[in-house]
Amino acid sequence: MLRIGALVSGGGTNLQAVLDNIESGYLSNCSVVAVISSRPDAYALKRAERYGIPAICLRRKDFDSLDDYDAAIIEYFEKHRVDLVIMAGFLSILGKKFSEHYRNRAINIHPSLIPSFCGKGFYGLIPHKKALEYGVKVTGATVHFVEAEADTGPIILQKPVYINDDDTPETLQKRVMEEAEWKILPETIKLFSEGRLVVEGRKVRIKR
Ligand code: GRF
Repeated sequence: MLRIGALVSGGGTNLQAVLDNIESGYLSNCSVVAVISSRPDAYALKRAERYGIPAICLRRKDFDSLDDYDAAIIEYFEKHRVDLVIMAGFLSILGKKFSEHYRNRAINIHPSLIPSFCGKGFYGLIPHKKALEYGVKVTGATVHFVEAEADTGPIILQKPVYINDDDTPETLQKRVMEEAEWKILPETIKLFSEGRLVVEGRKVRIKR
């Protein structure tokens, strides 16, 4: 059984996509065993409660240093014997301590085709707004392993989404979630649970 810990800050629709795929049997050998939110009002916490998943809120501002914040997150996940961490809309940036502890065992979902429209400050509607302003014809979502710098780790899966002339940041955000994020996050977890992801430098090879 693969024990998953989720880091969230908002609505938690990506967490929900994972829970739905566990329920449907697609991720039959996985279980979400702990949830940490960086915000007390995150709807994702309600979702965790509904499923009886242990959940807490840890706010960066309640810790003196990034190292202390990383340590608190590691401690909670270790207590619940987490094998894989999923960052699903987690808005707080974590440090070296966290990324080294969970090297190649923590993944993040980002709503653009990295390396476009990513990095510090690219959260919420911003990647979609910037993609529309730039005039790209295609955007999408990326799942990658976590490194200390935001959105920089080895890329595991990407899925494109075509942009329509009448798209707004809101319509594009919705399509990227429905058509890409909620698909490639569970797919990545499945590949990880089957031991099929091999990290070779910046490249991730998928074993057949
Ligand atoms: C998603 O777009 C995710 O890619 C990004 O933040 C958003 C979180 O949405 N990192 P939700 O909380 O999963 O609904």
